Amino acid sequence: MKKNSITTLNQFISDQQNMFPFVQGSLSRIFRDLQLGAKMINRDVRQAGLIDILGDFGNTNVQGEEQKKLDVISNEVFIKLLEMSGDCVCILSEESEDVHWCEGAENAKYILAMDPLDGSSNIDVNASIGSIFSIYKRRSPNQAVTMEDILQPGNCQVAAGYIIYGTATMFVYTTGSGVNAFTLDDSIQEFCLSHPDIQIPKNGKIFSVNEGNYADFPESYKNYIDYCKTTGESKKTYSARYIGSLIADFHRNLLKGGIYLYPPTLSAPNGKLRLLYECNPMAFLIEQAGGKATNGSIRIMDIQPTELHQRTPVVIGSENMVDEFLTYNK
Ligand code: AHG
Ligand code: MN
Ligand code: MN
Repeated sequence: MKKNSITTLNQFISDQQNMFPFVQGSLSRIFRDLQLGAKMINRDVRQAGLIDILGDFGNTNVQGEEQKKLDVISNEVFIKLLEMSGDCVCILSEESEDVHWCEGAENAKYILAMDPLDGSSNIDVNASIGSIFSIYKRRSPNQAVTMEDILQPGNCQVAAGYIIYGTATMFVYTTGSGVNAFTLDDSIQEFCLSHPDIQIPKNGKIFSVNEGNYADFPESYKNYIDYCKTTGESKKTYSARYIGSLIADFHRNLLKGGIYLYPPTLSAPNGKLRLLYECNPMAFLIEQAGGKATNGSIRIMDIQPTELHQRTPVVIGSENMVDEFLTYNK
């Protein structure tokens, strides 16, 4: 990239496509749809306090109209756009109970999984939220789609990323050759390359976990968290940071270094976060940035999913911090 030049996300993708001619246009078209969806949701997020989209889905406003929650709107926006261009055979979404089959796209090559709006509890309080996506290639292109196509482990992802609607809106993604981030320039409505080839620091000073659930965590997690909070001459002090939007906690740790934990609890032995929509895409990104992601015993991306909305405990972040956690969780 020339000094002072601007690279838009579209330009970047088209350059990559020129370098790897075997990558056909359909993946680029999916990225175009994701970008457009991101811009539409960004517009809604920025106006959320002004128009009737805050609040719970199912509520009615004073005019008797149905209010729509942003995560329902986001789900509809992405599904409509992706369905229109016909490059995904189906869409798996945190907001849809079953597989969404894309009309007229029976022969399409890709399967997209998404959390259309992550961090819902932060919508009403003006904290960062986002959209997460993960893309797989269908295993048997000339046959009907099977559960084997749909439930692929994270190590089969061909692309993954997220859009964070924060103080700025950013599009962060990987196709397996590093992680690049693009910031939305509002004035021209283009995502412009702002963070090329992101590498997470090997060590960090931040640990992120919902300590409100501490009493229900397994002993090994408690011991690790206690260690993070121990101060002393021989140990550097860690800081706790927990926003409650995975995307926001992850994004901060990705840039600054740190560890994020969503442990198993007594009432939720598989934790809370979803393997397909949250953990796998974040694990792909973190590994591509030089970090690690584990469920406590195995690599997140090596888990074989058995159901669509499967949950998993997750520990993700700077390599040395995750390794240190694992010494507590043998
Ligand atoms: P979602 O809004 O998609 O349901 O996800 C919420 C998730 C995730 O963003 C966050 O890290 C986690 O829930 C927070 O959960 P706790 O409130 O239990 O800490
Ligand atoms: Mn989520
Ligand atoms: Mn969600």
